[in-house]
Amino acid sequence: MVNIKNLIKQLEEQRILSKEEFIALLSNLSQEDKEFLRERAQLTAKKQFDNKIYTRGLIEFTNYCKNDCYYCGIRKSNLLAERYRLTNEEIIACCKEGYELGFHTFVLQGGEDGSYSDDDIITIIKMIKKDYPDCAITLSIGEKSYDSYQRFHEAGADRYLLRHETANEEHYNKLHPKTLSLPNRKRCLKELKEIGYQVGAGFMVGSPYQTLENIAEDLIFIKELSPEMIGIGPFIPHHQTPFAKQSRGTLEQTLVIISILRLMMPNALIPATTALGTIDPNGREMGILHGANVVMPNLSPTSVRKKYELYDNKICTGDEAAECRCCLERRMKKIGYELTSDRGDFKPEV
Ligand code: 5AD
Ligand code: FES
Repeated sequence: MVNIKNLIKQLEEQRILSKEEFIALLSNLSQEDKEFLRERAQLTAKKQFDNKIYTRGLIEFTNYCKNDCYYCGIRKSNLLAERYRLTNEEIIACCKEGYELGFHTFVLQGGEDGSYSDDDIITIIKMIKKDYPDCAITLSIGEKSYDSYQRFHEAGADRYLLRHETANEEHYNKLHPKTLSLPNRKRCLKELKEIGYQVGAGFMVGSPYQTLENIAEDLIFIKELSPEMIGIGPFIPHHQTPFAKQSRGTLEQTLVIISILRLMMPNALIPATTALGTIDPNGREMGILHGANVVMPNLSPTSVRKKYELYDNKICTGDEAAECRCCLERRMKKIGYELTSDRGDFKPEV
C-alpha cells in the first residue's frame, strides 16, 4: 500500500509526480489525506498571495460559435440558443462599469465567431486600452493563427485563456467533432507562450469518458506547458447538447485537483470558477480554501447573461456587476480573504 501522505509531501517538494503516482494519489485519498492536501495547498497559496484574491471582469461579448463541442451549450448545432453580439459601445460600457467597481483586468470571452475579423478584435483591444491603459486585457476567443495571436498581442492584449480540455487525444476526440484536434490546440498554446502572452490552460473535471489516467496526463501536460493561469471547473451537462444525460463532475474531485495544481505550481493564477460556484452554493469559497486565488465575476449586461449558457443553471445570470462584486467581497471576507484591485499579473515565486 502506498502512503498517500508521503506522496503529498513528495508532490509538495518535487512539484511533480509520475503518472502512476498521480493515479495512486487520485484513487486512494482518505478524508484525512484530503484535509492534509487542502491545508498544504492553502498554505502554499497564502505564502504567495497572502489573503488577497485577484479579480477579473468577464465580458461575454458574443455567443455565436462555429464549433460544435459536444459539451457546450453555445455549440453551433444548438439551434435553440438565442444568439447575440455586444456592440463596441456595449463592451466599453461594461469596462466603464467594471473599472468603477475596481476591476483592472477585462476578459473578453466569446464563441469562435467568424463575423469578427482580426481587425475588428484589434479595434476592440485598442478601444479598451485607450480608455483604460492601466488595465490588463485577457482574450478568450479560441483557436487562431500565429499571425492573428501576434497582432492581438501587439495591439495590447496581455493574456490569453485557451483550456486544452484534455491532454489525451482519444479523449479529446470523444469531446469534440473531427474539425477540432488536440495537436492544433497544443500548437495554439505553444505559440501563445512564444509570443509572450500570460497563458491559461485547463480542463473540466468529470467530463464524459474522463479517466483518472486522463487526469494524470492533464496534470503532467500542464506542468510541461507551465501556463501562468489554470482554469479548472467541474463538467456540468447542458440540456441541449449531446451530453445532456451525462453526469456532472463532483465538487470533491475538482477541489482535490485545484489543490494538487497549487502544490505543483505555487505562483500560478488559479480561479475559483463560476462552474464550481454552480455545483455548490459555497463552491467558490471552497475553491479558495483549496488553493485558488482568483475570482472572475461577470460584467456582461444582464440582458444577455442567460444567453451565454455553456452549462445548465449557471449562477449570477440575473445579477448586476456591482451585485456580484459586493457579493464576492462579502463571501471572501467571510472566509478571511479580501478582493484586491491589483491587475494581478503573473509574478515570480516568493
Ligand atoms: N460544463 C463545464 N464547463 C464547460 N465549458 C464549456 N462547456 C462546459 C460545461 N458543459 C468550459 C470549457 C471551456 C470554458 C470556456 O468553459 O472548458 O474551455
Ligand atoms: Fe454574482 Fe454572488 S457573485 S451574485
